[in-house]
Amino acid sequence: MSMEGRTCVITGSARGIGRGIAERLGSEGASVVINYRSSEEAAREAVDAVETAGGSAVAAQADVSDREDVERLREICHEAFGPADVLVNNAGITADKQFTEMSREEWDRVMDVNLGGMFNCTQEFYDDIWNAEEGRLINISSVVGKQGNFGQANYATAKSGMFGFTRTIALEFAQGGSTANCVAPGFTRTDMVESVPDEVLDRIVSGIPLERLAEVEDIASVVRFLASEESSYVTGEVIDVNGGMDL
Ligand code: NAI
Repeated sequence: MSMEGRTCVITGSARGIGRGIAERLGSEGASVVINYRSSEEAAREAVDAVETAGGSAVAAQADVSDREDVERLREICHEAFGPADVLVNNAGITADKQFTEMSREEWDRVMDVNLGGMFNCTQEFYDDIWNAEEGRLINISSVVGKQGNFGQANYATAKSGMFGFTRTIALEFAQGGSTANCVAPGFTRTDMVESVPDEVLDRIVSGIPLERLAEVEDIASVVRFLASEESSYVTGEVIDVNGGMDL
């Protein structure tokens, strides 16, 4: 139970990669705050799943792009479990368009959630992580932040923006012994890729040396390593979890 006694806040964790991370950390004894934006029922199911896996959990509604919501997220965390040891900035959205068709609103919306959400949550939980023994910030970026992707100028920009942010916070945290790292998943089987047509997915898989999409467990096990005390000398890194896509 390597996460016993650790309080972990995971944004956007009622489904997909976030829920996979919550279950994995819960299975190692963590206390987990399940943040959700709108689906209370999915959040309740995620809480049950974490508790069944062996952890403790509480659900907290908050739109990460709204600072007052994030203040409340912190209050709920403190009331339930005390200060956070681990923050996983996982909540993210896409709004795809070829660049000439992309509206400024679609650009801003993706920045507000993916980067603005990371700003709000990291600032609200900064002192918690700084003061924690082996505090951890983990930002979920994407292979798209490294490689770019047709129709995703907004998303690719936001996801590569996470790299510079992570390295900077890693330098700030280093003086207090906490770490900050990024995980850059490849294409992962969740609702986010559900809308991608089969023929496009087939083309994507044919370019992956390991010949399959990632499962949420593939991403969760790397996050679990970064969240644990086993990674205490790893900071400012971007860990690719993409089946060898850039080989
Ligand atoms: P998903 O769409 O299944 O889950 C995203 C979660 O974030 C949802 O629960 C959603 O409600 C939540 N969310 C969205 N906006 C929010 C907001 N304003 N406030 C709070 N929560 C909000 O997506 P998935 O696939 O689980 O993605 C998780 C993260 O992993 C995202 O940051 C995504 O960009 C990233 N990622 C996903 C990949 C994939 O292929 N699925 C690949 C690489 C990165």
